[in-house]
Amino acid sequence: MTDEKLPISDALQRPLRDLRISVTDRCNFRCPYCMPREVFGHEYRFLPRREILNFDEIARVVNLSAALGVTKVRLSGGEPLLRTQLDSLVASVRSVPGITDIALTTNGVLLPRHAKSLAAAGLDRVTVSLDSLDEEVFAAMGGHPGATVADVLEGIAAAEQAGLGPVKINCVVERGRNEHTVLDLARHFRGTGQVLRFIEFMDVGTLNQWHGDKVVSAGELREIIHQEFPLESVAPAYPGEVARRFRYIDGQGEIGFIASVTQPFCGGCTRARLTTEGKLVTCLFATDGTDLREPLRSGWSDEELSALLRSVWETRNDRYSQQRGEEETDRDASRIEMYRMGG
Ligand code: GTP
Ligand code: 5AD
Ligand code: SF4
Ligand code: SF4
Repeated sequence: MTDEKLPISDALQRPLRDLRISVTDRCNFRCPYCMPREVFGHEYRFLPRREILNFDEIARVVNLSAALGVTKVRLSGGEPLLRTQLDSLVASVRSVPGITDIALTTNGVLLPRHAKSLAAAGLDRVTVSLDSLDEEVFAAMGGHPGATVADVLEGIAAAEQAGLGPVKINCVVERGRNEHTVLDLARHFRGTGQVLRFIEFMDVGTLNQWHGDKVVSAGELREIIHQEFPLESVAPAYPGEVARRFRYIDGQGEIGFIASVTQPFCGGCTRARLTTEGKLVTCLFATDGTDLREPLRSGWSDEELSALLRSVWETRNDRYSQQRGEEETDRDASRIEMYRMGG
């Protein structure tokens, strides 16, 4: 267990490569599969500031994780652009030796305001969530009063202009809500250089009333697109890539499918997550994580903290999405919600 060679590996021989950080539990959207409006109303109590990791604390975790093998950092939320001066966090992450890729997942509406300063601080790229181009469907899925599809498209354009492209577009598909609008999305993003990815609706968290019937499989989605715009598969861009890549045969670019439910990818999962309040979580479906905030705030040395990170990773054996298909899993367990965990 104390083998010093890098990268460290978990109990299933998976190295630690990615750190996904939730920088805020707040969001200006209320997507029903993530923060349903019925639960996150005006009276909902978000984390008070003192319970949220500050930027120095996050940067310290990034530094220590990079020394253990992390090369890729994704900033997420909640909506990460609601965290003030996010560009200063980006700049500190940029200065960490070994971090080669810094990405941001956002709903896009605040990008026109922030894209330039984030790019200047060293952000490499952004992924924007957009579930439909149809205003009504978009409103029902994002539910942000006042935000429109055009606002998100402006955000995507601002990111491209700031050099944060090619932008990836994430579309979660939920049966009965937006599967009838997927072809429009494909038509819109074909030929733009932006890469649309469809994500199967997942049973993450406890609040989104997930049911297997609501999942539109990646296979089904691919067929819908293929019928109109023939596709051929493309090799993964890197080992363990979450999205299965395809290209339009007529040369109009790429599209991806994230089959987290029907074709789980736990075997290549190299992702650790840091929650808004500073827990290190080793699976999207975890019921709890390891608290780093208390150690960070009570004077632990780098060596002590690093040993903690290492032991958490080396004992990890999570493979929830594979187990979901193999055996009964406990849906009522107190799972951590996605918006606290960096997607
Ligand atoms: P890049 O290829 O680096 O752009 O990132 P990515 O493919 O990891 O994409 P992104 O971070 O946007 O993830 C897309 C979506 O895939 C997430 O929002 C989740 O819905 C899903 N996803 C990502 N990582 C995991 C994971 O570890 N487990 C599961 N079950 N789903 C994941
Ligand atoms: N299933 C699938 N994807 C989800 N996301 C959030 N909740 C779910 C879910 N239940 C996606 C968002 C965003 C990313 C952070 O995760 O749409 O693109
Ligand atoms: Fe907000 Fe993203 Fe969750 Fe939607 S999926 S509520 S945009 S954090
Ligand atoms: Fe990784 Fe857990 Fe997702 Fe499997 S279910 S890919 S172990 S985060």
